[in-house]
Amino acid sequence: MYQTDEAAASKVEKSRFESSISELKKTAFVTAADIERYGDSGVTEEYTKAYRRSLEDPEGFWAEVGHELTWTKPWDRVLDNTNPPFTKWWPGGEMSVCYNAVDRHVEAGSGDKIALVHDSPLTDTVRRITYTELLDQVSRLAGKLLELGVSKGCRVLIYMPLIPEAVVAMLATNRIGAIHSVVFGGFAARELGTRIEHAEPTVIIAASCGVEPNKIVRYKDILDEALCQSSHQPRSCIIFQRRRVLECKLEAERDICWQEALLADPVPCVPVEANEPLYILYTSGTTADPKGVQRPCGHAATLCWSMHAVYGLRKGVWWAASDLGWVVGHSYICYGPLLAGLTSVLYEGKPDRTPDPGQYFRIIEQHRVNALFTIPTAFRVLKRTDPNAKYSRRYCSKSLRTAFIAGEHCDQDTRNWAEKVLNVPVLNHWWQTETGSPVTAACLGYGIKSVPPHSAGYPVPGYDVRALREDGVECQSGEVGRLVLKLPLPPGFASTLWEADERFKKVYFESYPGFYDTQDVGWLSSEGAVWVVARADDVINVAGHRLSTAALEDVVLRHARVADAVVVGAPDPTKGDVPLCLYVMRPPQDDEEMVAESTVTQELISLVRHLIGPIAAFRKAVAVPALPRTRSGKALRGAIAKLARSQLVKLPATVEDATVFKEIKLALQKCGYAVDAPDPELSSHI
Ligand code: COA
Ligand code: AMP
Repeated sequence: MYQTDEAAASKVEKSRFESSISELKKTAFVTAADIERYGDSGVTEEYTKAYRRSLEDPEGFWAEVGHELTWTKPWDRVLDNTNPPFTKWWPGGEMSVCYNAVDRHVEAGSGDKIALVHDSPLTDTVRRITYTELLDQVSRLAGKLLELGVSKGCRVLIYMPLIPEAVVAMLATNRIGAIHSVVFGGFAARELGTRIEHAEPTVIIAASCGVEPNKIVRYKDILDEALCQSSHQPRSCIIFQRRRVLECKLEAERDICWQEALLADPVPCVPVEANEPLYILYTSGTTADPKGVQRPCGHAATLCWSMHAVYGLRKGVWWAASDLGWVVGHSYICYGPLLAGLTSVLYEGKPDRTPDPGQYFRIIEQHRVNALFTIPTAFRVLKRTDPNAKYSRRYCSKSLRTAFIAGEHCDQDTRNWAEKVLNVPVLNHWWQTETGSPVTAACLGYGIKSVPPHSAGYPVPGYDVRALREDGVECQSGEVGRLVLKLPLPPGFASTLWEADERFKKVYFESYPGFYDTQDVGWLSSEGAVWVVARADDVINVAGHRLSTAALEDVVLRHARVADAVVVGAPDPTKGDVPLCLYVMRPPQDDEEMVAESTVTQELISLVRHLIGPIAAFRKAVAVPALPRTRSGKALRGAIAKLARSQLVKLPATVEDATVFKEIKLALQKCGYAVDAPDPELSSHI
């Protein structure tokens, strides 16, 4: 169903990055003096021992981790690597993720403990839900899903804002052995429709609306529009009415009110085999079609273990300031903290505007948060709006022990600012939707308390991280290369792409045989610490949201007056990157009227908003007479992105017409980029 041209595309991108290694190195922002100051040796003996064991005796290591869960049937063996990259962990073993996340805590006498805190300044509410209450709601909703014909292996699509009901929906789906697919609320109807068509859910669970600072997002209307466009129709939709905000009209034949669904009789857990899918989560790739990352149920053991091994938390309150629509939300708002029996905070608000930049600190104080996980963009927003920490000083953050950041590069100024106002270490770590949990981190549970400056920490047990040159030869320490992970990959890693095994192999495992290609570029120190420098494919990171430039170009090219277009990531002081589109207008034909560039630009912005969603933050587009391409027709996106950053561009000898860069530079300057950019130079290689 999906195109599979990522492997070819990534080869082109790879050569682009290989050629600019020295410049990438500069953007790694680390100096010898930095390393001297902090020391590159946060590594402890305990960590080294555990890490080595995970690679040399993976069966012994992961058997111990597996025992963190309660199994209904023991595994036949720990590792089955007979068909790489489709590695199986704990094959034959059966358990219920829902049981381990909810029931077992109630059975152990912790039913009164708070499982979820929902803090929503946007609706002016704080709700606390105990493990007993969670069990009641989850087992009743699971009962309703069974009644509606959902059974083991069926899909349930969840389209909800960050409310406890979304967690209930995820757990209820898993309780009966079904597979959930959560879709982020910031996507437009067409994106939701694509996911509905691909996942073919038996039931969809949605909310009437979401709340953003200046608007109500009508989830139910977006769902109805998506279903009008979709060839697949669910049997039923369960709709949670947010009565205090906006109630929606229900379709008598199809829709069931959430409150009514919860009148169903509770049902027990259905255990499934460890390698059966827990969920499908769509993420962006090199092509316009999203990839359905499939996660095995055994992932639960890795998550439970990571809460203490990586994040150093065996009890207390944990807050991952993300959304359930992203992998961070799946792993660390829902599953990780609940599996470990912690309290998980759900924050429905923004760092700065709901209503002020003190909210992060209020939440830490009010809910006695022990550890925070957020993305650098959130700290950049806070630093910009409250540089002198006027708001943060109103609150006491004594409960907080550590803050973790991931998702994008964090500049040192922002990190220093965050460490100062929070008064705790701010630890960077690196992961992806595909990995489901960190690849590198500080691993607090093994005694590492800091990471070398600007680095993303040390490999988490199970991950053998290498940097490779284009020919597959390993880089020396300090040399920038493609970051890859040696097979077999540890438990919890994506088991495949939903209904696309071939695509899974092609995208991730063909470029470097024996390794998973992370599509990130970076380097390792002699002690194994990892620096992540840049993404090597056409994926951009906008405020921690992963977006495909191909998907954006696809939409832009639908405009009748656009003949050609490229989208690149351009730097933004808050969001890291934002999409920037250069397009070529088609001249009017026959009796067509002239259209002004400003009109086309506005129409493109609306089109992307309508077809992809507001989350793309697509606000910058500019017309140019022609786009730079190689003679074989490849757009020189990398060169444009560099020019926008005022970096020196060395053009490949194969460039079709280097003179187009004169106009490109002027167009970029119109958007506030390429201000000090030197003129691109022709080089004999790239
Ligand atoms: N549902 C519907 N719309 C949403 C939405 C949601 N859940 N989240 C955001 N949007 C909309 C916003 O209202 C905004 O719309 P607008 O253009 O009409 O104003 C648009 O999408 C862009 O929002 P966003 O990029 O979130 O910017 P922001 O300024 O509102 O918020 C942050 C900034 C940092 C709070 C936000 O980007 C964020 O939480 N990022 C974290 C992402 C993350 O955790 N990723 C995981 C990485 S590991
Ligand atoms: P996602 O799959 O949405 O979680 O995005 C994963 C991508 O985010 C990675 O491939 C990286 O490019 C980027 N990323 C994640 N963590 C970090 C980090 N700590 N530093 C730099 N980039 C990161």
